[in-house]
Amino acid sequence: MKTIFSGIQPSGNLHIGNYIGTISQWMKLQQESSNELIFCIVDLHAITVPQDPKMLRQKIVEVAALYVASGIDPKKSNIFVQSENSDHTYLTWIFDCMIPMGWMNRMTQFKDKSAKQAEGTTVGLFNYPALMAADILLYDTTHVPVGEDQRQHIELTRDIAEKFNKIYGETFVPPEPMIDKQAARMMSLQNPTSKMSKSDKDQTGTINLLDSAGEIRKKIQRAVTDSGSEIVYREDKPAVSNLLIIYSKVSGKSVSEIESQYQGKGYGDFKKDLAEAMVEFLTPIQKRYNELMKNKDELSKILDAGAEFARHKSSKKIEMVKKVVGLGR
Ligand code: AMP
Ligand code: TRP
Repeated sequence: MKTIFSGIQPSGNLHIGNYIGTISQWMKLQQESSNELIFCIVDLHAITVPQDPKMLRQKIVEVAALYVASGIDPKKSNIFVQSENSDHTYLTWIFDCMIPMGWMNRMTQFKDKSAKQAEGTTVGLFNYPALMAADILLYDTTHVPVGEDQRQHIELTRDIAEKFNKIYGETFVPPEPMIDKQAARMMSLQNPTSKMSKSDKDQTGTINLLDSAGEIRKKIQRAVTDSGSEIVYREDKPAVSNLLIIYSKVSGKSVSEIESQYQGKGYGDFKKDLAEAMVEFLTPIQKRYNELMKNKDELSKILDAGAEFARHKSSKKIEMVKKVVGLGR
């Protein structure tokens, strides 16, 4: 049996990069009935950079609704909000007291993110990977489906598990990352050398799951392309290759099928069809999202049940940790 854990920060709009890079993998894993699945809305991670409290609250519910609307089935998967289980922060402290500073100093995402903090960096942002390790290790997670940018954090999580087990005896399961090679790093439609990102101030390169049909058409129309007019997946065609993967993921067609479909045709036809495929793909997700947001009872029940499951499972692990570390009486 696999235990799957993953999460997304409610720090902005979910975009097609999040969907293709992670949520679509979660959906595949959901098809195997023996898997135990846990999907978290990691709000404690979101506050490692400044957040407006009202907006954060809104985004937490929005991300939860988008998980469900995208096809995460609460009958098969557990969905919960990270801050509703305080075991995550408890375990983080214990890890903090055993992680060598050198391990944390190597984290490249911290370097990138802290460079962007005009008002200075916090201890929380530095400590972010320890909280992520706690998220994963609390539940005996075997597999973590994420995008490429999270690989280093999962390697650190393995190192933490192994170090803890060596000191205190077998307690944690070192997890494996699950990274979809083709979809691990979807790029901005405006700049194929930069990752499509929630925090990008210029949202014209990002297709959000809640964008209107008009916005989608406009963004795809304006997407940058490469020199030459061929529509092929090739290293020297990063912009077109990115669009081809997006097209493939939202239409269900293979990249080579799409390449042959557009042989001898121009970017105009290709973009027009891609925009329509995207609208067709997102329309049912948005419809379900709007239903969930209209009547929040259903969502509340899903998140309550998810939190209960999470607290129940993690409390056993915390008891074990306290015992082996020698905490309490
Ligand atoms: P974040 O948006 O940083 O909270 O990331 C949530 C999840 O989506 C993580 O597993 C990321 O690795 C993944 N992700 C974020 N942006 C992209 C992207 N442009 N392409 C593929 N995966 C992504
Ligand atoms: N750090 C991840 C990101 O920014 C989000 C995250 C937090 C996560 N905890 C996790 C992902 C545990 C997988 C497992 O994308």
